[in-house]
Amino acid sequence: MTNIIDIKNVHKYFKQNEVLKGVNLSIKKGEKIVIIGASGSGKSTLLRCINRLEEPTYGEIYFNDKLISEIDPYEHDEIIKKSKTYSKLSSKGIDEKEILDNIKENHLLKPIKEGKEYKNSIKKYINDNYLNITIARSKIGMVFQHFNLFNNLTVLENLVLAPVELKLMNKEDATKKALELLKRIGLLDKKDEYPSKLSGGQQQRIAIIRSLCMSPDVMLFDEPTSALDPEMVGEVLSLMEELTQSGLTMIIVTHEMAFARKVASKVVYIDEGIIKELGTPSEVFDNPKNERLKDFLSKVI
Ligand SMILES: Nc1ncnc2c1ncn2[C@@H]1O[C@H](COP(=O)(O)OP(=O)(O)OP(=O)(O)O)[C@@H](O)[C@H]1O
Ligand SMILES: [Mg+2]
Repeated sequence: MTNIIDIKNVHKYFKQNEVLKGVNLSIKKGEKIVIIGASGSGKSTLLRCINRLEEPTYGEIYFNDKLISEIDPYEHDEIIKKSKTYSKLSSKGIDEKEILDNIKENHLLKPIKEGKEYKNSIKKYINDNYLNITIARSKIGMVFQHFNLFNNLTVLENLVLAPVELKLMNKEDATKKALELLKRIGLLDKKDEYPSKLSGGQQQRIAIIRSLCMSPDVMLFDEPTSALDPEMVGEVLSLMEELTQSGLTMIIVTHEMAFARKVASKVVYIDEGIIKELGTPSEVFDNPKNERLKDFLSKVI
């Protein structure tokens, strides 16, 4: 089975603040990944990088082996070797591996000064491997803590907007699909309501099916229940649990540990921008190795 998402050595800086410090994660088609970690550890930033709402500072992200982030030349020895910096150092007789390590560790490349060969090899790599951002966005859906529905549009208008605007479907097909999904979640009678007239749980379920209207291959969920009143958490989790029965690949940031244990194929613990632990729910929850994870779990469970 090939990977649907490959996160390679992703670093993200906000000014001087390094929020992701080299995240590597491969996700297979159909996997249900739950990401846990303390507030500020970088969970949302990681999801936002996958969905291209943020650009990694270093590192790369692939979707079905196609590049969806910017290219990071430091990830490609063959590109580094085309740079003037590399030629200069190798003319001094330094060992190849030593030069590559030095260039990568100290970020020695100066893109505009590395010459034509370097520039062309970057261009070629992008040409051969880059996935258009509109396609990437339509294949990777995201559901946020706050529902982000358009309040001036009805439920049905919210649902058909993106597939029609992006020309993924005509209006008739999009409407048909939206009505089917509304029916499936028992909210068909709300199709002409405005979101503000609905409960938080209803709005969030509509936000979820709005993503599904795009027929995504991957869905990202960023604490989809944490803004809800407690009595509405259950209905959103059960819709998500129902989705886990499909072949959809899901990446879910949540503090709902019982849910995580039930649905996750893998649990990922992020701490200070690094994946500190990764395993099955029983490995991570029952036998945590990392001290900070133990401490974290004792607070949330
Ligand atoms: N756009 C931004 N500009 C500057 N700093 C940011 C930005 N977004 C996030 N940060 C910082 O990055 C760090 C990680 O934030 P992030 O939202 O990814 O954490 P999180 O794990 O999702 O936390 P929470 O559980 O509270 O949602 C925080 O210190 C945050 O202040
Ligand atoms: Mg967050």
